[in-house]
Amino acid sequence: MPHLSIVVPTYNEAENVPFLLERVQAALSSVDFELVIVDDDSPDGTARLAQELSVRYPFVRVVKRTDQRDLATAVIEGFRHSRGEVLTVMDADLQHPPEKIRDLLEKIDAGADIVVGSRYVPGGEIEAWPFKRRFYSKGARAIAYLLLPRSRAVQDPMSGFFMLCRQVLDGVELHPIGYKILLEILVRGRYQRVEEVPITFRDRERGTSSLVFNEYRKYTRHLLRLSWEEGEILRFIKFGLVGGSGVLVNEGLLWLLWGVWGVMLLGASLVAVELSIIWNFIWNEVWTFRDRGEDGIRAFFKRMGQFNLVSLVGLGLNVSILLLLHHLFGVYPLTANIVGIAVAFTWNFAANNLWTWFR
Ligand code: GDD
Ligand code: MN
Repeated sequence: MPHLSIVVPTYNEAENVPFLLERVQAALSSVDFELVIVDDDSPDGTARLAQELSVRYPFVRVVKRTDQRDLATAVIEGFRHSRGEVLTVMDADLQHPPEKIRDLLEKIDAGADIVVGSRYVPGGEIEAWPFKRRFYSKGARAIAYLLLPRSRAVQDPMSGFFMLCRQVLDGVELHPIGYKILLEILVRGRYQRVEEVPITFRDRERGTSSLVFNEYRKYTRHLLRLSWEEGEILRFIKFGLVGGSGVLVNEGLLWLLWGVWGVMLLGASLVAVELSIIWNFIWNEVWTFRDRGEDGIRAFFKRMGQFNLVSLVGLGLNVSILLLLHHLFGVYPLTANIVGIAVAFTWNFAANNLWTWFR
């Protein structure tokens, strides 16, 4: 049994496979490993070529699928055929440097459960992406961080180059959509220690990428499914319900203070606003974010302060968007206010999720 299994999904990579095998062999002398190519019946004959090359490179095994064409499930299929205690996933197009496998393996052997070849830690980089693609990538990551707390374990949860101990997947069922298989593992896997090794994500020299633009849609669906199953969408809904109840509290208090007791309007409103913020805070504390946040009275009041600050900024956002849209673009105030409320609500959720109740 090999110690390490390297799973390489391929689709039309015949031009790259010979170089890949040569470099992997050179990089891993003295390591006991196998390399499992999972090919989806590439028209360019990748599978046949790899099979032929396995004579010269005995560590190569080829799995050919004819019923599917999908990167994520190809990787899972590769796991199934792997015999090593340690699993690696790597692309065939040499955008991931095979020379780094050793560095990842060192961390695993030193006790890490998952190691990610990372473009976003110091020393890591992306060779040839235009600004737009970098921007999308960071944006996609920000949404993942917001909706999937477990993805925050690493700087690069979207990397296609990573290593893990087999136990991480024990009893875990993976069913990703699209190709962010690491994200799926970070959310569903069983692990304690995660580490990152900086890599340079090289430009593709040969062949063409087969992942097309609708991957963004698949990514969105994948993300929503994962966060629904993790209860994070529900959290968002709870946060909204609490916010709605706060509006009622605010109104009720204003009615009581100003309408019934005759307190002056400004004072009455300030008290109503602050008390409804505290109301919201309490409910978010005991309901929306019950599973988050440190114990203890100090931490509790710290969170209350943070929540107040976030709400204040939210209020500022709401009002300035309202005024801006109205005075600059002539939008009807009640319509502009809806936009303001939507932005402020998103801000409030994000800031409280990532700061007040960070985990
Ligand atoms: N079996 C199989 N089936 N393999 C596939 C398929 C498929 O349908 N589509 C792509 N592959 C293989 C390619 O042959 C290559 O080895 C690897 O999967 C990555 O495909 P690319 O087309 O080169 O993807 P990319 O460079 O755009 O994306 C890479 O970088 C992303 C980081 O932004 C991948 O590593 C992604 O997983 C990663 O998220
Ligand atoms: Mn690629």
